[in-house]
Amino acid sequence: MGAAALILAAGEGTRMKSGLPKVAHRILGVPMVAHVIDAAHRAGCEQIVAVTGHGAEVVESLIGTVASVRQEQQLGTGHAVMCAKEALGGIDGSLVVLSGDSPLLRSETIARLVETREKIGAAAVVLTATLPDPSGYGRIIREGDGTLAGIVEDKDLAPAQRSIDEVNTGTYCFDARRLFHHLESLGNQNSQGEYYLTDMITVFRDEGLKVEGIATDQPEETLGVNSRVQLSEAAKVLQRRINRGHMLAGVTMTDPELVWIGPAVTIGRDTVLEPMTFLMGETHIGEACLIGPDSRVTDSRVESASVVDSSILVQATLGEGAVVGPRAYLRPGTVLAPRAKVGTSVEIKNSTIGEGSKVPHLSYIGDATIGSDVNVGAGTITCNYDGIHKHPTVIGDGAFIGSDTMLVAPVTVGEGAVTAAGSAITRDVPADALGVERSEQRAIDGWARKRRAGRERTGDSKER
Ligand code: UD1
Ligand code: CA
Repeated sequence: MGAAALILAAGEGTRMKSGLPKVAHRILGVPMVAHVIDAAHRAGCEQIVAVTGHGAEVVESLIGTVASVRQEQQLGTGHAVMCAKEALGGIDGSLVVLSGDSPLLRSETIARLVETREKIGAAAVVLTATLPDPSGYGRIIREGDGTLAGIVEDKDLAPAQRSIDEVNTGTYCFDARRLFHHLESLGNQNSQGEYYLTDMITVFRDEGLKVEGIATDQPEETLGVNSRVQLSEAAKVLQRRINRGHMLAGVTMTDPELVWIGPAVTIGRDTVLEPMTFLMGETHIGEACLIGPDSRVTDSRVESASVVDSSILVQATLGEGAVVGPRAYLRPGTVLAPRAKVGTSVEIKNSTIGEGSKVPHLSYIGDATIGSDVNVGAGTITCNYDGIHKHPTVIGDGAFIGSDTMLVAPVTVGEGAVTAAGSAITRDVPADALGVERSEQRAIDGWARKRRAGRERTGDSKER
């Protein structure tokens, strides 16, 4: 398509009552402005520029490789576009203008605006919506035959115009050359003393150029976020849109209202997502997995036929048929090979658990490489941190780690070796050996009987 896009994101967003600029607020883990940029990308916009101002450093840190221009003083949406003249003034063809606070706009709609403008050769095409409550929005003024005549801001409406329910969504496609050529004609004689981009419609009309307003069939996609209430409304709309897409593609959700999935997440068919499941960031879930209830998976890869129950995964990788939980915490760098199992209240960080190996109960495993078919007994801990440095633990294939083993790293347990329960292992255990570190157990004959007898003499029969 080859259109360029300009994203207006310099406003403060006073009604958010926030230390953060408005467009930096997140929906499903993604900053609002990034949702808009993503829609522009997917619509085929090649060159994208954002106008930043309030909290510019914060906003610029969130827009990745997208270029930005600064608008030091927020003198209105028309002025914001003027600030991009140097960056975009040279381009020919379509320029899409979007608001950084409209995160629900779909890429199909942007593409439709561009196609319409190019087909009819208009100087501007405006996206409009018909709303049950149009208050606060600029209104679309049409002539008797439906021709677009102009846009009047809410604060500048004449009493007779108040009832108009077709509004300006703040989304436009312009002929870039004509826009920058006539932009200087904008004045700021209005109730807010601002340069309104919306006045370009009358400017073009006065020049005898063609303008058009086309309506969206999904008014909810035009929701502008101005407050935290609207932020939550936008999140709800996006949640439903994303979940519906996954369900239609073969994912089961027992209660989709209680499942939250980020826009970049991919999920294979026949996977079941139980309530209170959160899949965020760059996460991939394979086919026929069971995730949840009560699980959070962020920036992780889970291969097919895996189970995650009441657990947290952050930057973790699960091989096919892995089983996790309940209440496991898999931190960055955790890799489970196929069919590995991590059970109840286990924390793992920066470690590989080999094929078919098990860490079933109450363990901490950090900076470890565990081979295949290893059993790690309950309560086992890798002591990987000496207070200054982190050290590695290596456990060979087929080893058996007794319950409550302390593995004081750096340390290696060889293939097929065994450690005795309760041992603090500070030296390497050779392959097929037993590593045992315990003081010898004694039996004191009659000790318990004597204690009972003493209790009977004093008449104190209760245990204390
Ligand atoms: C604007 C439109 C209004 C439309 C509404 C849709 C104008 C004059 N009015 O009003 O017709 O119904 O959007 O949501 O355009 N911005 C800047 N620099 C500025 C001013 C604004 O970058 O100097 C950015 C804001 O950060 C925001 C966007 O432009 O992302 C829209 O600005 P906002 O002040 O929210 O405009 P509205 O009053 O909502
Ligand atoms: Ca707005």
